[in-house]
Amino acid sequence: MTDNANLPTTAFLTADASPRLVVDTRRCRGEVGLYGATVTSFVPAGGRELLFVSKKAVHDGSRPVRGGIPVCFPWFGVGFMDERMEPLHGFARKLPWELVEVVDDDAVVTSRFRLTGRLAQDAPGRHLVPQAFTAELEVRMGQTLRLELAVTNTDSEPLTYEVAFHTYFSVLDVTACRLHGLEGVEYVQDGVAGVGSRYPLRVDGHIDRVYDSATQLTLDDPDFGRRITITGENSSHAIVWNPGPQGAAEMTDMADHEWVQMLCVETARARDAAVMVAPGATARVAVELAVSELPVGR
Ligand code: BG6
Repeated sequence: MTDNANLPTTAFLTADASPRLVVDTRRCRGEVGLYGATVTSFVPAGGRELLFVSKKAVHDGSRPVRGGIPVCFPWFGVGFMDERMEPLHGFARKLPWELVEVVDDDAVVTSRFRLTGRLAQDAPGRHLVPQAFTAELEVRMGQTLRLELAVTNTDSEPLTYEVAFHTYFSVLDVTACRLHGLEGVEYVQDGVAGVGSRYPLRVDGHIDRVYDSATQLTLDDPDFGRRITITGENSSHAIVWNPGPQGAAEMTDMADHEWVQMLCVETARARDAAVMVAPGATARVAVELAVSELPVGR
């Protein structure tokens, strides 16, 4: 669907070189780029932008946008096989997805984007996951933001995949934020195992940890006075990533100082918990992001 005539009045597709679905209701405003089906903006009514997008992000479809919520699929990072799988984070975030439908149900706008194995046939890395599949990303924008990836195995062979909602949260100063829910939780960073301390996580530089966590997390940002609640469904891991000053300086699509303004808290089904779908079956993984005022004193 690329025709505005079929959209509800609360949504429209931009007609530029990098088409985006723009949603504007009394509950929120948001945007999803068709390239990678990447949510690049979500602003709850009366609130501020939830998602970080770098000022140096590239929006022409030549590479994933540095920010928003890229969908890592059919693998996360270097993947679930013994050898390194390329490209990093799978091919889905580097391909245009089809917009299937947009429905407004009492100011909750649900949009569906589809990627099939056929659409991905020429993508680098496709040979690593060669099965026929249909992946459908449902994006629900209301008071909260909910993403669900439903993958149907349309092949005669079983399908194994990973998925991560690679969410870049916008924060005023990451060093003042606290991430709750990973206390005492096991993680791996650069192949080395560790355990979260008994205190909420503070990030003051580079971090790249894959936590063995499927529980609800909360990100408190005292400067913005807000709490973000991150609820995964059918997820297995939480990844916390920030490039730190040196990493940001080395990236061409992020400004040097911007590491302070973002924190990736990713919701994934990965590693030893990669999804296995039988022929004809569908599996779902989802995340819901909700914003509330930070209780006084936190
Ligand atoms: C994180 C990974 O999920 O994504 C990091 O854990 C990686 O290792 C980061 O650097 C960003 O990846 P990319 O490919 O978008 O630069």
